[in-house]
Amino acid sequence: MEITKDIKYAGVNDHEVDLFEGQYIVPNGMAYNSYVIMDEKIAVMDTVDKNFKDEWLNNIKEIVGDKTPDYLVVQHMEPDHSANIDAFAEAYPDAQIVSSKKAFVMMGQFFGTDFADRQVVVGEGSTLELGAHTLNFVTAPMVHWPEVIMTYDSTDKVLFAADGFGKFGALDVDEDWACEARRYYFGIVGKYGKQVQAVLKKAAALDIATICPLHGPILKEDLGYYIDLYDKWSSYQPEEEGIFIAYTSVYGNTEKAVELLVEKLKEKGAETVEASDLAREDMAEAVEDAFRYDRLVLATTTYNNDIFPFMREFIADLVERDYQNRTIALIENGTWGPVAAKKMRAMLEGGKNLTFAENTVTIKSALNEASIAQIEALADELVK
Ligand code: FEO
Repeated sequence: MEITKDIKYAGVNDHEVDLFEGQYIVPNGMAYNSYVIMDEKIAVMDTVDKNFKDEWLNNIKEIVGDKTPDYLVVQHMEPDHSANIDAFAEAYPDAQIVSSKKAFVMMGQFFGTDFADRQVVVGEGSTLELGAHTLNFVTAPMVHWPEVIMTYDSTDKVLFAADGFGKFGALDVDEDWACEARRYYFGIVGKYGKQVQAVLKKAAALDIATICPLHGPILKEDLGYYIDLYDKWSSYQPEEEGIFIAYTSVYGNTEKAVELLVEKLKEKGAETVEASDLAREDMAEAVEDAFRYDRLVLATTTYNNDIFPFMREFIADLVERDYQNRTIALIENGTWGPVAAKKMRAMLEGGKNLTFAENTVTIKSALNEASIAQIEALADELVK
């Protein structure tokens, strides 16, 4: 695949991965992107996952033909991209390795060598001349590891964006970009909004025609769309108006309350209402939806004088990612001594600009007239 006349795709598709980064389901697999810049000097941009060493080395061989790469640029040391640095170093003993100082320390940790005699250390503002192409390095600390650099090819106006603008899904599967990019962003990068904002500011000063991320498709058209979403996500602003209901239900009674709330909200004119059973549906998808919409309803059971485990995990996921700027409503169920609403609120209370709905619903075992009235009142408040 040709990105520009001189930049070729050398990455791989992974349909075998069970859980990406040890926790995320990837029904459509995963792509580990790598690129080769063909110039007087040849640069390879990042490696791929360890299971694809041979395929990746073959891809490079096919691209470079009878030439050999001069540089391997390592933008990110997480092993989905860095696992084959040693294999590359062995295959091309004269090539140098270009990376940040912190990344070389990590290479020492991962490989038992920091390739001291082959290092080219780069930082903010460093450049590397390949011939016609100049690579300009931009540091991107904590997006989402500390050693990350991005690389701007000022000749072809290409930004190699490391994990930025990446998504779940292999490149041989056609699917909506935003859905799996949002799940990826909030799952993996979501905690680091401030750092993403800092990189977006640097990127705004560059004339970018193409974004080459380490996962997901190469972005060429309508870059404003992607950059605008990244700006919203990293500044913790809701992407759109809508109500997301995250719930757990042990015997179906809390679920019935959720169903009733969905019905009432729709009756009262709410256009977007989505609900997810946290015990049975993908938690990362629920986290993504909580950030996508401006209103969140949490419905759960009192359990061991606390809250049901899946809800506790969900709220912890939100808090860890600095959940803010949203309205939150609470529904609790308890056969005796319901405390779930109080406990959920306590977990979230430190979040910036979180508004709690005035109406809280308390169910004692099953819906009754009183709790149905509370749901009606909550629905009114949420669509107001
Ligand atoms: Fe795609 Fe952070 O590794």
